[in-house]
Parts: sequence; C-alpha cells; structure tokens
Amino acid sequence: MCCAERVDIDKAERLELDCWGMAKLSFGRRLLKHIHPEGIPWPGSFFYNAISGTAIFQGHYEMVAKDILNYCTQGRLLDVGTGPGRLLVKLHQQSPEMRLVGIDSSPSMVAKARENMAKAGLSDAIEIKEGNASQIPFAGDNFDIVVSQWSVHHWKHPTEALNEVYRVLKPGGYALMYDLVSDTPVEVLDEMGRKFGRWKMRLLWLHGFEEPFYDRENYAVIAHPTLFKGGQTRFVGILCCLIMKKG
Ligand SMILES: C[S@@+](CC[C@H](N)C(=O)[O-])C[C@H]1O[C@@H](n2cnc3c(N)ncnc32)[C@H](O)[C@@H]1O
Repeated sequence: MCCAERVDIDKAERLELDCWGMAKLSFGRRLLKHIHPEGIPWPGSFFYNAISGTAIFQGHYEMVAKDILNYCTQGRLLDVGTGPGRLLVKLHQQSPEMRLVGIDSSPSMVAKARENMAKAGLSDAIEIKEGNASQIPFAGDNFDIVVSQWSVHHWKHPTEALNEVYRVLKPGGYALMYDLVSDTPVEVLDEMGRKFGRWKMRLLWLHGFEEPFYDRENYAVIAHPTLFKGGQTRFVGILCCLIMKKG
C-alpha cells in the first residue's frame, strides 16, 4: 500500500467516527453502542425472527423488494445482514430468476435463515452464508446488486464495510442500503402511521436506544469516504435508502 492510500484511509477513519455523530450521544449511549455486539446473537435472533413475521415488517420487505427490482431484475444479488432472510424470500417470489445470496455475521441468525428457507422450500434457490460486512466472503466483481435492510446501523466499521460492498459489486452495479434514521420526516411518519398503526411503527425506534440510528445527513455522509465517493438518499416506506453506484 502506498503512502497516499494510507493517508486516505486515515482520513476515512476519522470521518467514520464523525459520521456516527458520536458527539451527539450521551456517555451512557456511547458506552452501550461500544459494548453492543455487532451481530444479533441468540435469543435476540429468536425474537427478531418472530417480529419479522408481523405486518409492518412484511409490508416493508414487500416494498423494499419492489424497489430493488427497479434497479435489477436478473443476475446475482447479495443481501448483507440478511437476518432471518425474509427479504430474500419476497425477492424470490417477485423475481424467481434472480440468484439470491444472504450473509449474516450472527451464527444463530444464519441458522434461523436456513430454517426459514427450508420451511419455504427454498434451500436450493437461496444461499445463506455466515459472513461479516467488513469481510465479505466472496471474490470481487461477483454481484449485479448488493442490498441491505435494517442492518447498517449495527456496523462498527461502515467505511470498511461499504468498501467491501464496492469490491464484490460488478462495475455499473448498485448498492442499496435501507435503514431507519433518527429524523424521519413527519410526512413519512404520518403516511406510514396511517398504514401500519402509529404505535407499532414508533416501537421500531426503541431499538435505536442501545444501537443508535444515523440521522439523514450522516447516513448520506457514510458513502463519502468510501470507494463509492458518495450516494443519494430517499425514503421507501419508513426506511431511508442510501443509493450508491460502482463506476
Ligand atoms: C435488525 S436485523 C435486520 C435483518 C434483516 N436484514 C431484515 O431486514 O429483517 C440486523 C442484522 O444485521 C446483522 N449484522 C449486524 N452487523 C453485521 C455485520 N457487520 N455483518 C453482517 N451482518 C451484520 C445482524 O446479525 C442482524 O441479523
């Protein structure tokens, strides 16, 4: 690695700290964030799998799957932090010809996702593998599109992880990262509140106490120090989608 590259990486790491907005968090929440595990271990995987079957989650898997298919309808797709793999099931239902792969850093989530694929009769159609966003277990230029839902706020090293996403994407491919943000516009909250119920929707933000969400501005900024060099955001349901393109 040459010196210029090292300087850029140091700068990226500083930006990464800034863009977590850590200064905005109280000491207690910073400490919680620090000790919180990156992946969701058992029994969290068990509870998450149960709540991901509810209407608000299913509605969002449906909306996100439709949105993804506006960018890519065939080829290989990678879902990073796939959890119980429910988005992949929706994608398969809407576009059975796509080759779908999900990775998750939590072994118990991987087990849950594999169990869900087996129940849906999709074990042969959808590949689930253990793997961390910061070290994606695939060769470069491998996927036509890389997506992630409800996972980016867990990542301890977002710059490193997005550079990994860049590496495994084929040139011209899109990365679409859908996540909750701390300052969702009121219009979005009103519309989604009417659709799914105001209280059920608000409960989703409870998780942000120990695993803080980005605000909109900082969510877009995480793309800047990466090889993508920037990205744009827009809302799909209550989720803010960060859109980045390789090359
Ligand atoms: C809130 S769940 C979302 C799961 C799924 N994407 C969904 O929409 O239902 C977040 C998932 O990201 C996984 N995760 C967190 N950090 C990760 C990382 N660095 N690499 C891979 N997976 C990660 C967790 O284990 C968990 O399964």
